[in-house]
Amino acid sequence: MRLMVTGGAGYVGSVVAAQLVEAGHDVTVLDDLSTGHADAVPDGARFVKGSITEAADVLAEGFDGVLHFAAKSLVGESVERPELYWSHNLGGTLALLDAMRRTGVGRIVFSSTAATYGEPESTPIPETAPTRPTNPYGASKLAVDTALTAYAGLYGLAAVSLRYFNVAGAYGRFRERHAVETHLIPNVLKVALGERESVSVFGEDYPTADGTCVRDYVHVADLARAHLLALDACAPAAHAVYNLGNGTGFSVREVIDVCREVTGHEIPAVFGPRRPGDPAVLVASSEKIRRELGWEPDHTTLHSIVRDAWTALQA
Ligand code: UFG
Repeated sequence: MRLMVTGGAGYVGSVVAAQLVEAGHDVTVLDDLSTGHADAVPDGARFVKGSITEAADVLAEGFDGVLHFAAKSLVGESVERPELYWSHNLGGTLALLDAMRRTGVGRIVFSSTAATYGEPESTPIPETAPTRPTNPYGASKLAVDTALTAYAGLYGLAAVSLRYFNVAGAYGRFRERHAVETHLIPNVLKVALGERESVSVFGEDYPTADGTCVRDYVHVADLARAHLLALDACAPAAHAVYNLGNGTGFSVREVIDVCREVTGHEIPAVFGPRRPGDPAVLVASSEKIRRELGWEPDHTTLHSIVRDAWTALQA
């Protein structure tokens, strides 16, 4: 298929673009490089530097589908500057959907998030759980999901939203590279690499077995593969939503311990106050995507996820 990958110079987008090229698709990456890196665009993909609001010019060449990753994705920033999230994530995506309609591109796989659910009533979280986002990032992604459902019904769009839990690991040279790193695993590994003295643990008084937050870590290669399955499963006039996680939770302490094992470094941890907005436990039920699309993660251990992140970081 001839495919556009928006945000294909970012972490998840670059891994999906690489797997699409490997699968024999004709891939064009559209990325404004506001947070991505030009050298993350995989060999074999065409790169167009530009915003999603300018997608129509490229889509007019004739495409079979869009995989849409370009977005603002920092929860903390979204609380401080919500307008950025509404304009980029919702406004930008509505412009992209408009461009798709005008150019006759009827298929989209959308990068959504577990942040659409907010504080869960119970875990693991199924797709039928209430969506009550606790920050503008999750709210803007939920608004796009809502628009996709409407556009599927009104205009026959074929859409799939994938709601990611905690993405980690690396795919060959493709790894997480954020200017401001807020995620746990890269921050812990920076200590092992000697770039930071210690890792801060945000809260040790949560109602969990060891008092630290529990998250569901999914390997970026497994997550990316789900996009290829979703692309094939897109059906006209339907919008399907799938959670993507391993279904197993690991605490912050457990993550740090595994990083110590993998790297052989001591990794000092400093325990501090909670980070505002962090739910105690977020674990996905991925039953639906396993059942309907036959998705199975290859990397079910935290060890293999951290090992791949560590290998890529040292390269
Ligand atoms: N944490 C620390 N120290 C750090 C970084 C994180 O203790 O230096 C803790 C956090 O408090 C949290 C856990 O480690 O309990 C994981 O934090 P991350 O920032 O790695 O990930 P989040 O669970 O906060 O966020 C992820 C995605 C978001 C998405 C969210 C959905 O990165 O994009 O899951 O709930 F919105």
